Amino acid sequence: MSAETLDNLSSENRTFAPSPEFAAQANAQPSLYSEAEEEGVAFWERQAEALVWNRRWDTALDWSNAPFAKWFVGGKINASVNALDRHVAEGHGGRIAFHFEGEPGDTRDISYAQLLTEVSKAANALTEMGITSGDRVAIYMPLIPEAAVAMLACARIGAIHSVVFGGFSAEALLSRIQDADAKLVITADGGFRKGAAFALKPAVDEALKGETNVKQVLVVKRTGQETAWNESRDIWWHDIVDRQHSTHTPEFFDSEHPLFILYTSGTTAKPKGIFHTTGGYLTQVAYTHKVVFDIKPKTDVYWCTADVGWITGHSYMVYGPLINGATQVMYEGTPDTPHKGRVFELVEKYGVTILYTAPTLIRTWMKWGDEYPNQFNLSSLRLLGSVGEPINPEAWIWYRHVIGGNRCPIVDTWWQTETGAIMISPLPGVTATKPGSAMRPLPGISAKVVDDNGVPVGDGHGGYLILDRPWPSMLRGVWGEDERFKETYWSRFEGIYFAGDGAKLDDDGAIWLLGRVDDVMNVSGHRISTTEVESALVSHEAVAEAAVVGAADAMTGQGIVAFVILRGGVEHVEGEELVKELRNHVAKEIGAIAKPRQIMVVNELPKTRSGKIMRRLLKDVAENRAVGDATTLADPNVMKLISEGLKSSSSDD
Ligand code: WTA
Repeated sequence: MSAETLDNLSSENRTFAPSPEFAAQANAQPSLYSEAEEEGVAFWERQAEALVWNRRWDTALDWSNAPFAKWFVGGKINASVNALDRHVAEGHGGRIAFHFEGEPGDTRDISYAQLLTEVSKAANALTEMGITSGDRVAIYMPLIPEAAVAMLACARIGAIHSVVFGGFSAEALLSRIQDADAKLVITADGGFRKGAAFALKPAVDEALKGETNVKQVLVVKRTGQETAWNESRDIWWHDIVDRQHSTHTPEFFDSEHPLFILYTSGTTAKPKGIFHTTGGYLTQVAYTHKVVFDIKPKTDVYWCTADVGWITGHSYMVYGPLINGATQVMYEGTPDTPHKGRVFELVEKYGVTILYTAPTLIRTWMKWGDEYPNQFNLSSLRLLGSVGEPINPEAWIWYRHVIGGNRCPIVDTWWQTETGAIMISPLPGVTATKPGSAMRPLPGISAKVVDDNGVPVGDGHGGYLILDRPWPSMLRGVWGEDERFKETYWSRFEGIYFAGDGAKLDDDGAIWLLGRVDDVMNVSGHRISTTEVESALVSHEAVAEAAVVGAADAMTGQGIVAFVILRGGVEHVEGEELVKELRNHVAKEIGAIAKPRQIMVVNELPKTRSGKIMRRLLKDVAENRAVGDATTLADPNVMKLISEGLKSSSSDD
C-alpha cells in the first residue's frame, strides 16, 4: 500500500499577510490558537458562555457513546431567543437584521424588533396549528424573509425544521418529507428568479399526492400567481400569522434537542438526513462567524449569498449572524438579473463590508468579464469569504484584486453540512494567506491529513482529510439511520471522522483541499487530484473555469480529460492551437504527467444546484457511456450539449 495517497504536484509561493490596521482591530488575535490548545474542552465552554442559557450545562462533552456526541449536557437553551430576544433586550431592537431585496427590486428593511415580532406571531400560529416540540416541519421556500422567520419560529417552539431547497423537484421534496415524517409544510405560492415568477406550491401539491402524514400546508403569498387550493389542508400565512399575538413566551430546550435536519444532495442513493442539535451547534456557528468574519455588529453590513436551502444559509445567514446581532443583505434572485452586475450594485447600495460567496460564482464573474464589477463602487468591502469547493489560486487572486481592491483579506472556509460550522479557515487578522489554501484548522478544531493506514502524512504530502476530535457543531447522526451514520463517516478509520475529501499539506503545513477522494485520478500509477489540474488550467489567462475527470485509458489506466470555459474579454488563440497551448501550460505548471489527454471547450459545466461540479457525469461522457442520474443538475440540458460536443472533438495524442 502506498504511503502517499495523493501526489503533490503544484506549489504556490504567493502569500498575503493582513494589513497592520486590520490585524489591530481583528476579533481574533494570534493567542486564540494557544488558548484553545491549552484549554481543550474548556475553550468551547468559554465560547458557549457567549450564548444566553436558561440553565447552565453540567458536562461540557460526553463522548462516552462515540460517535454519538453530546455537548453542554444538561444545559437549556432556545435558539430563537439567542438570535432575537437578547438583542432587543439589550437595546438593539432598532438595528436592521435584514435588508431584503427581491429580484424584481422590491425591498424591505427588517429590524431585530420587527423580526422578533414576526417570529413570535409565526410561533403562535404554529402552536395554534397543533405543532409541538419534536414535530418535523418541512420548509420549501424562495429566499425571502419568511423563510428565516419560519425556521426561527420552529426553533422557538422546539419543532425540528427540514429546509428543502426551493429548486428541488416534487419528487425530491416528497422523499424528504417522508424520511423526516413531517407534519407540516411551509411554502410560498412562488418566487422570482431570472426575471420571472416561478411556482412552488404546485410542487408541494404534487409531492403530497404521495403517502405522507402532512396535515397542513402554510403558504406565504409572494408572487400573487394563481394557485390551486385545497380548502381542508392549505392555509395562507397572512390569514393565520397576521392575527396572532405579537409576543410569545419561549420555552427552553435541552442542549441536545434536535434543531434541524438537512438532507445532503448529490448521488443516486437515498438522501441522508444530517441532523444537528441546539447548544453545540449554536456555540460553534456563533464563534466561527465572529472570528472568521470578524463581525462588528454596529458597523458591518454582511452578505452571505447562499440560499437557506443549504447549510451555509442555515449557519451563516440565519443562526450565526443573527446570534451575533449582524446586519445582513438577503437577495432573492439570480446574480445576472436584470444585469450581470446585480451583486455589485447591491454591494454599493447597502455598503456591504463582508461578502461570503462560492467559487462557482467567482469563476462565473471571471467568465462574464471585469467590466461588471468595475461599474460599481465596491470600496465598502473589507473582508471576502469563499466556501463550497476548492477555490483555484487564479480565481482567488481575481477575487482579491477585482472585487476586494487588493485590500480585503480572503477567508477560504472549509466545512460541510455534516460539520455544521467552519472547521478550516484563515483568521483574517492573523493568517498570512496563500491563494487557494484554507490554511489551518480553526482554534479548537483538530484536522489532519493521513495516509491509507490513518498515519499523518507530514508536510509536503497528500492524503485523506480527517477530524480526530469531536467538535460542538458536529452532526449527531443521519436521521433514523444510526448504522448508516457509523458506516458512512466513522468506519474508514476506526473512531475517526473521515470527511470524504482529499487534501495535502504544503511545506509550511498549510492545508490544500483537493476535492472528493472519489474524484482522484490514477494516471500511470500517479494519484492526481482533479483540483490541481483544474487550477493549473484556470491559471491560464484564457480560462475562467475547468472541470477535470479521469477516463479509462488502455495505456495509462486513466487519462485526463478536461472541460474548460473561456474567460470574457481576454484575447487568446482559438481551436486546436488553444488546446495545444493549454496542454503545454498544464505540463509547465505541474508536470508532464498531468497533461490532459483531451481538452474540450464548453459554455457550461454540469453543476448541482449549490454550484458543485458533477464530475461523475463528465466521466460518463469521457468514457462514452450513457450519462447517469442527472436529477440533481441545475440545468439538465448542459449534459446533452457536452455529449454532442465531445463526439465531434478530436482526441489528442
Ligand atoms: C467541499 C458546504 C474546498 C468539500 C459548506 C466538502 C470545499 C463539501 C470547501 C461539503 C473549501 C466546502 N475548499 N472544498 N473551502 N468548502 N468544500 O455539505 O468537498 O454542501 O466536503 O457544505 O464541499 O459541501 P456541503
